[in-house]
Amino acid sequence: MLLNEKLILGIESSCDDTAIALVNRHGSVRYSDVISQDHIHNAFGGVYPELASRAHVENIVGLVNGAVEKLADIKQNIEAIAVTRGPGLIGSLIVGTNLAQGLALGWGIRAIGVNHLRGHLKSVDLDLSQLSFPAVVLLISGGHTFLTYMTSHTSVKILGATRDDSVGEAFDKVGRMIGLGYPAGKEIDDLAIKGSSTISFPRPMINDGYDFSFSGLKTAVARRIEGRSDWEKADIAASFVSSVSEVVVHKCRKALQHYRPNTLAMVGGVAASPILREEAKKLCDEENVKLALPARKWSTDNAAMIAYLGWDYIDHGFDTPPIPEVNLKFEDF
Ligand code: KG4
Ligand code: ZN
Repeated sequence: MLLNEKLILGIESSCDDTAIALVNRHGSVRYSDVISQDHIHNAFGGVYPELASRAHVENIVGLVNGAVEKLADIKQNIEAIAVTRGPGLIGSLIVGTNLAQGLALGWGIRAIGVNHLRGHLKSVDLDLSQLSFPAVVLLISGGHTFLTYMTSHTSVKILGATRDDSVGEAFDKVGRMIGLGYPAGKEIDDLAIKGSSTISFPRPMINDGYDFSFSGLKTAVARRIEGRSDWEKADIAASFVSSVSEVVVHKCRKALQHYRPNTLAMVGGVAASPILREEAKKLCDEENVKLALPARKWSTDNAAMIAYLGWDYIDHGFDTPPIPEVNLKFEDF
């Protein structure tokens, strides 16, 4: 870290991960820490909102103290605080935004409320700048699934979105059906690599514009295993991932052929999937488009992407307050 290097402190608490990070103007991550709540929500097969808020309250001050103690000399280098203001769970968002307001008051600096979904897009440029416009952006996370075409950070066309479950939700629900813990994304991937995709699950809405639907696929998996014992977890996982990846790649290909962008960016927790990453790479090689993938550790929720996004808000003069907005859209700031 350079002496007098200006940093933004990022705070993320929109769902079930409590995270803080310090990032400089060029996207170099100087500090990052995440406390996962997976062990709390595991038993419920999904995020239990009240328990998530309580765990954020217990964890968040310690996270900030840990950073300030470890980097004792840099407190005066913190230029501003960027905190997720939405979308997310109201109780969880309140914890992060309140802390940001308190710290900003105490330290005499500004706190900016930023958009978590745009944070995911920023994750591709952490440590290494990769995004160039125009870009087709696929966001696949636990809470969201959509495809956009962007010519700049302020010009966003939403091409399609899921009509029911997000991709991450489908991974987590199928995981629960085959006896895995929550969240199940990584475990499904690990199994899928060992199994073979021998079961032909549906490819929902594959030829139906840019919208997605994953609830039928989830039901198809439930039907295939209910009351039967002639199935292997690994083959179910491999067949399920193959269906998801075929649908996702098909829609991305259509967008690449239509819009001919410079970059395809795939972001959000499910972009950590090695299978989807490999398929996205093949697609981009075939279509001669640059692929922008976040490092796997920045695919899932973290505060480094939030801090780096804070620099964009400062550069654009956006001064959105650190007040929760549960239903913030990708197009919003
Ligand atoms: O972006 P994220 O951390 O949180 C939200 O903003 O929603 O995404 C969480 C989702 C979960 O559904 C989880 O199962 C999925 O990302 N996920 C994965 C992998 N790692 C996390 N899905 C597939 N493969 C993975 N390796
Ligand atoms: Zn997220």
